[in-house]
Amino acid sequence: MSRHDLKGRHVVVTGASSGIGAALAVELGSRGARVGLIARRVDKLDEVRAQVAATGAEVAVAAADVSVWESTQEAMAALTEALGPIYGVIANAGIGNPTRPKRIDGVRDAEVFATNVIGVVHTFAAAEPAISSAREGFLCAVSSIGGWRGLPGFASYSASKAAVTTFMESLAIGLKRSPVTVTTVHPGFVRTPLTDSNRFKMPFLVEPERAARVIVDGIARGRREVNFPWPMVFGMRLLRALPGWAWHLLAPSR
Ligand SMILES: NC(=O)c1ccc[n+]([C@@H]2O[C@H](COP(=O)([O-])OP(=O)(O)OC[C@H]3O[C@@H](n4cnc5c(N)ncnc54)[C@H](OP(=O)(O)O)[C@@H]3O)[C@@H](O)[C@H]2O)c1
Repeated sequence: MSRHDLKGRHVVVTGASSGIGAALAVELGSRGARVGLIARRVDKLDEVRAQVAATGAEVAVAAADVSVWESTQEAMAALTEALGPIYGVIANAGIGNPTRPKRIDGVRDAEVFATNVIGVVHTFAAAEPAISSAREGFLCAVSSIGGWRGLPGFASYSASKAAVTTFMESLAIGLKRSPVTVTTVHPGFVRTPLTDSNRFKMPFLVEPERAARVIVDGIARGRREVNFPWPMVFGMRLLRALPGWAWHLLAPSR
């Protein structure tokens, strides 16, 4: 059963210039939503804007860096001006710099937290007042099953996604009696520019269009969590259930 009718609703997607975010924007447009797009690269945003417009949907773009509060606030204000009050927001922007255990990088590793964690906080802080005052809508964040354990070679990424998942779990409890729903997304591997550089085998790789359909279905149903694909979810759940010492022994050192 559908909890949110997205037709004519203004939904903002961050990280909409490529990958999952771009596919989400097109999926939302094809379901009749008005779509607000945020990312830093204006040329890429314009390409996605054209794809969303081709679905017949109203669409607007605002360039912003979600790790910067003023930038995020200004973008939300510009999108509200263009498309009306925000009904829902998908905090999807994220980066996945690997962490070298012997050379932790004070800039690159910190940037992962600034984008993946602080970016979600900024995005919700800028959009949530409109959603709360309308007394309906949704907050969604794209975390990762990679946050369910400390993955070798991805210390900052795993930790940032664990933070997002815990942040969302707490928000969902706080809002459980409210008409505003809270959805946390935990994808496995999705084929996007983020994963294109991975040199290891990515099992059960999902295409971004399919990921977008699954995510928007989950949001529309008001689901608390959207986890896919199921074989990866099952495998990671098993790994998560291991005691710390067993994971330490089993995980390859990278
Ligand atoms: N692909 C996967 O296998 C996978 C799996 C699990 C979770 N995820 C999560 O899914 C989300 C989307 O990733 P993706 O795979 O679609 O990667 P992607 O194609 O690289 O997209 C990342 C998006 O985030 C935007 N972005 C990055 N830093 C930003 C910033 N500071 N401010 C605003 N926008 C910013 C990028 O646009 P600009 O560069 O134009 O700003 C881009 O639109 C991420 O949160 C990622 O962690 C991905």
